[in-house]
Amino acid sequence: MARPRPSVVVLAVAVAVAVASLAQPGAADLKLDYYASTCPNAEAIVRGVVQQRLQATIRAVGSTVRLFFHDCFVEGCDGSVLIESTPGNQAEKDASDNKSLASEGFDTVRSAKAAVEAACPDTVSCADVLAIAARDAISMSGGPFFPVELGRLDGLSSTASSVPGQLPEANQTMDQLLAVFKAHGLNMSDLVALSAAHSVGLAHCSKFASRLYSYQLPGQPTDPTLNPKYARFLESKCPDGGPDNLVLMDQASPAQFDNQYYRNLQDGGGLLGSDQLLYTDNRTRPMVDSLANSTAAFYRALADAVVRLGRVGVKSGRRGNVRKQCDVFN
Ligand code: HEM
Ligand SMILES: *[C@@H]1O[C@H](CO)[C@@H](O)[C@H](O)[C@H]1NC(C)=O
Ligand SMILES: *[C@@H]1O[C@H](CO)[C@@H](O)[C@H](O)[C@H]1NC(C)=O
Ligand SMILES: *[C@@H]1O[C@H](CO)[C@@H](O)[C@H](O)[C@H]1NC(C)=O
Ligand SMILES: *[C@@H]1O[C@H](CO)[C@@H](O)[C@H](O)[C@H]1NC(C)=O
Ligand SMILES: *[C@@H]1O[C@H](CO)[C@@H](O)[C@H](O)[C@H]1NC(C)=O
Repeated sequence: MARPRPSVVVLAVAVAVAVASLAQPGAADLKLDYYASTCPNAEAIVRGVVQQRLQATIRAVGSTVRLFFHDCFVEGCDGSVLIESTPGNQAEKDASDNKSLASEGFDTVRSAKAAVEAACPDTVSCADVLAIAARDAISMSGGPFFPVELGRLDGLSSTASSVPGQLPEANQTMDQLLAVFKAHGLNMSDLVALSAAHSVGLAHCSKFASRLYSYQLPGQPTDPTLNPKYARFLESKCPDGGPDNLVLMDQASPAQFDNQYYRNLQDGGGLLGSDQLLYTDNRTRPMVDSLANSTAAFYRALADAVVRLGRVGVKSGRRGNVRKQCDVFN
């Protein structure tokens, strides 16, 4: 094959870059050393606070990581999920479709931002504090450590009405899940890798009860992809018609951010319908099998996917600012 002429190569690269930045607007502005001169200790300060919060409560891990995911999928990674509602504005976090984001994640970011603000006022965005905190929560609970790209601005609006349709639901089909991820510039590999976040944290019975009880879906038995022994265990945790209890998403290693998640799936032990589907669907099953097998492959896939998640809808220029306080606009 003839070697392409340099001008063709340059054009091809330019097109590839343009396509990549179209898929992830603003992502080109992110840098690993964004605060190197303006707030060199930002990451160390956040890390110290996350460490403290983790020692205080294990719930800080899952709630912080989930907060980052929800921030990025609604209006981009711009800290808008952190905003509190006011009498005139129902904020993202209070969308009527209750996303049940746990308070520990908000507490972690609030404390970390306050500590960073004391060292470098008006410099580090809440969106970046959340991105750093999520990375630290992952690495401090047995997941990979990886460099986090920074330079996100905080968004200027946060509305409950921007939430519907943006987040995946536990009862969606694989095509629907893939479409939701695709709409945010993420692909099937990202879906499979990021779902491992369900290796930590908890879920309410209401999010998976339809897999257990036929009364919720008339004429349908217990979800056949659910391991029967695990189904009986979950029924004991979620008594028929009982309260909306919280259940650990990974019973085998609930506080470890590890690839046990994928081994659970191989055993019919995925908690949510969307978890088990990764193993049932033959498009994603090969990736589940390979990540279940290798911690190194899992670390690589997860770190790459979290970096890509952190590029979703990033804001720059006049589209954002650096908030002084994460829960209220300046
Ligand atoms: C693939 C589609 C996904 C669906 C359908 C989904 C759905 C859910 C649901 C229903 C819960 C339980 C919420 C509750 O009952 O309180 C949950 C919890 C959680 N999700 Fe996801 N999720 C998905 C992907 C992700 C991703 C990509 C991440 C992060 C990278 C993530 C992180 C978490 C974490 C950490 C928890 C536990 C939260 C806690 O302990 O407070 N999820 N998810
Ligand atoms: C949403 O969840 C929070 C925290 O779990 C709860 O206090 C609140 O009542 C819920 N709101 C609705 C509308 O269900
Ligand atoms: C899927 O879950 C959502 C949110 O919990 C619910 O509103 C919807 O009715 C469910 N859809 C089906 C088909 O069960
Ligand atoms: C998803 O995107 C990543 C990064 O561009 C790429 O390495 C990976 O091969 C893609 N996966 C699929 C299934 O297309
Ligand atoms: C998955 O299964 C369907 C139906 O059996 C088949 O048509 C398809 O080719 C399979 N795809 C892969 C990737 O194995
Ligand atoms: C998983 O590991 C076993 C043992 O090392 C190997 O035989 C198998 O092929 C691996 N499977 C995948 C999908 O990588």
